[in-house]
Amino acid sequence: MRTAVLLLALVAVLYAKVFKIETYNAGSNMARLIKKGLYQDYLRKMDQLRSRHEVLATGSQPIIDYFDDSYLINITVGTPPQQVTVILDTGSSNLWVIDAACKSKVCDGYPESDYTKHKFNTTASSTFVKEKTEFFIDYSPGYCSGYQGKDTITFGGLTVQVQEFGVANMLAEVYGYQQMDGIFGLGWPALAVNKVIPPMQNVLSQLDAPLFTIWLDRKLDIDMGGAAGLITYGALDIVNCDSTVNYVPLSAETYWQFKIQAFSIGTYSESKSEDVMSDTGTVWIRTPNDVINNIVKQTGAKFDWINEMYTVNCSTMYNQPDLIWTINNVQYKVPSVEYILDLGLGKGKCALTLYGLNNGGNQQIGFAKAFHSGLPTGSPMSSI
Ligand SMILES: *[C@@H]1O[C@H](CO)[C@@H](O)[C@H](O)[C@H]1NC(C)=O
Ligand SMILES: *[C@@H]1O[C@H](CO)[C@@H](O)[C@H](O)[C@H]1NC(C)=O
Ligand SMILES: *[C@@H]1O[C@H](CO)[C@@H](O)[C@H](O)[C@H]1NC(C)=O
Repeated sequence: MRTAVLLLALVAVLYAKVFKIETYNAGSNMARLIKKGLYQDYLRKMDQLRSRHEVLATGSQPIIDYFDDSYLINITVGTPPQQVTVILDTGSSNLWVIDAACKSKVCDGYPESDYTKHKFNTTASSTFVKEKTEFFIDYSPGYCSGYQGKDTITFGGLTVQVQEFGVANMLAEVYGYQQMDGIFGLGWPALAVNKVIPPMQNVLSQLDAPLFTIWLDRKLDIDMGGAAGLITYGALDIVNCDSTVNYVPLSAETYWQFKIQAFSIGTYSESKSEDVMSDTGTVWIRTPNDVINNIVKQTGAKFDWINEMYTVNCSTMYNQPDLIWTINNVQYKVPSVEYILDLGLGKGKCALTLYGLNNGGNQQIGFAKAFHSGLPTGSPMSSI
């Protein structure tokens, strides 16, 4: 009987096309630098780079892209497999790793990051094929570029024999400070640079169901990192998530983009239908400045100009109002312990993990009546 049960279980395991891989958290780059007293130097350096490369939008608040606290997974690339640790990013659709031939400090990882990068040695892989195509991706915190190639990759027990991906030999400074070796994009193919088919699309035929579940855990001691959740390919994760799923149509097949019906915090509420996106590439929430201003009012947060972030008194971490989103008539409440972080700023200050969005959004096309001097008034062409 016991054998039969065991066998059945084994058969079930062999036949279920469900694959799981633990996500983990490298800890906050920001918290690490703050702890060492290096954060303000880092900010100054990033600000200099930003003003050199970008035209800042007009507005009263700095544009800050922290891209700080990330969720990562281990994958392998090549034959024999070389392990790399990549950011799990629903906000982009390409995979890239760092070229072992890149000897710059940023490719190796800065000492401040307490991390030595695992670079991909293309010549050590018997299955790697270099392509002529170059790749360049401009993420909001910084770019990466190099050439494209194809090779076998594995993740969560799945194998893609031929996956195209970027081999980066130029990286923006910010990546030198992060404990990561690349990015694993889980966005839709339409977003993919060079029209590369993303890994998720390449494994769909191997799965029980064409879906993945990402469970992100919340840890209070964030600078330590460690296990932070699970990604399940091919099934719902009903161990870590409720089995009742509220499905919402996507408003674009690019990002994981959908509509919310309302947002509220404390006595502030708005019930405009707005497009939002779910982005696992960062744990911070980006939102338009008018919404931020209301959140600031409701939480009593202050902008800390030295650390360039909103802060509240840490003693309020558990008793600030919930952030409440209404999605498909269901209200989702995010308690303040989920959006207030102790980054070790000192003086009893804790960070509000939200920042403003000055540019973007509000894309629209405007029509106005054209004035035509050469046409008689009243002609059909004189008005539209
Ligand atoms: C990922 O790999 C690193 C070594 O590069 C290891 O320390 C870590 O525990 C691994 N994490 C998981 C979730 O497998
Ligand atoms: C890459 O691997 C090859 C073959 O194993 C080795 O000779 C070479 O030194 C390695 N290159 C780097 C940069 O590690
Ligand atoms: C934070 O709140 C506590 C308790 O209300 C108070 O004693 C402390 O002075 C406050 N700290 C700051 C920096 O305002």
